[in-house]
Amino acid sequence: MVKAKTKFVCSNCGASYSKWSGKCAECGQWNTLLEQMVEDSGKSAVALGVKSGKQLKTQSINSIESSERSARFKTGFSQLDEVLGGGILPASVSLLAGQPGIGKSTILLQLASNIAKDAPVLYISGEESAAQVKLRAKRLANSHSENLNFASSTSANDIAATIRSQQYKLVIVDSIQTLSLEEVSSAPGSVSQVTNSGNVLIRAAKSSDTAVMIVGHVTKDGTLAGPKVLEHLVDVVLNFEGDRYGGFKTLRAVKNRFGSTNDIAIFEMDNEGLKPVLNPSQALLAERLNTDGSIVLATIEGTRPILVEIQALVNTTSFGYPKRTASGFDLNRLNLLVAVLQQRTKLNLADKDIYVNVVGGLKLQDPAADLAVCMAIASAASGRKLDDHLIVFGEVGLGGEIRSAHSSERRISEAKKLGFTAAIAPKTAAKGIGKFVLPVADLRSALIKYINK
Ligand code: TYD
Ligand code: MG
Repeated sequence: MVKAKTKFVCSNCGASYSKWSGKCAECGQWNTLLEQMVEDSGKSAVALGVKSGKQLKTQSINSIESSERSARFKTGFSQLDEVLGGGILPASVSLLAGQPGIGKSTILLQLASNIAKDAPVLYISGEESAAQVKLRAKRLANSHSENLNFASSTSANDIAATIRSQQYKLVIVDSIQTLSLEEVSSAPGSVSQVTNSGNVLIRAAKSSDTAVMIVGHVTKDGTLAGPKVLEHLVDVVLNFEGDRYGGFKTLRAVKNRFGSTNDIAIFEMDNEGLKPVLNPSQALLAERLNTDGSIVLATIEGTRPILVEIQALVNTTSFGYPKRTASGFDLNRLNLLVAVLQQRTKLNLADKDIYVNVVGGLKLQDPAADLAVCMAIASAASGRKLDDHLIVFGEVGLGGEIRSAHSSERRISEAKKLGFTAAIAPKTAAKGIGKFVLPVADLRSALIKYINK
């Protein structure tokens, strides 16, 4: 008997190999290669498909009718609609990824009940029982609708058949990691189960014009548990990030076939579910205490300007090795900035523990946060605070130079809206804006001028 052909697929990045090895050469993860059957029946790929197949009927793009915009349906959260590119498109498949406990099931149940006001929606859970979902629905405001249906299932075959029945405008599947397909023998959550179940659901959605939203859990380091391939298959990948225990939670599209990936939606959890935060800057600064080590940064999240407080605490090290901790900010970047501060401004931080915190649970990726972090550290180290009415932004280079930041006008107009009177910013930001900007060229002069008074 000829042995069935198999290949080894990495469960982290989806790379495939003919032989097993302990480490994936593509992504560097250990112990992620799993064996899978190869469907090809032995014929070479060239011989396959040479004679079969017929010529496709093509048409000019101009002649295709589009009713796309009007066909989209609203989620009831205007910020989320924007993230999706104007609402949910029929037949689209979206993946909502996030850590356990961040609020994925909550937001989808809220969204389902909003949409159920005008169209039938089905919420399928493989994780919670009907009674548990009912309990949650009771807590959420306005989630009482005849059109909102529930089923508990972990069978991808049954769910796909239900989607194909065309009874529902939107089907929510919570979560992909609990599903299994009869034809595949491996356990739920494994690579082949996740990809194959995902594929079956996607095909059902496309053939029945039903929108499908799938929940996916992420691992500790923020990547989607299960194969990366799923991200390539779906139309939209939404990431739900933030602190599980309070603070802001941001929802952004990391992939969107029908819209931009620039917008974000900000939510806050209270005891009636998730509420959109309409004025995040105001909420973030509401409890601010202007002490040393506290700086207001004007950052950009997606396309939205947000003012957020950066806090630093500097302590003398009690053990030999100084400790550096960052929450909401990249630790490597913090170490780099500490080195720049030390070399370029002669601030002695070698025997200091440094803690940096971004208030409100935001995770900053904006390079223009550098200057605010440096000033917060310098302010904490010297015990002198910055003037109350100032905001800060700008990228810091290795030479200690302050580099330009994108969207300066938007950062500044947000600061003006909240009553700030000046911005410490790169020189380029001063162009056309005039007096509001206090231009700084390098880190040393910025600290001397504004902190070491
Ligand atoms: P959940 O949506 O179950 O998270 P996920 O599906 O991403 O794992 O809920 C997240 C947390 O939110 C849960 O620990 C309880 C809390 N919560 C509230 O604070 N208020 C509410 O109204 C609800 C429904 C949940
Ligand atoms: Mg859940």
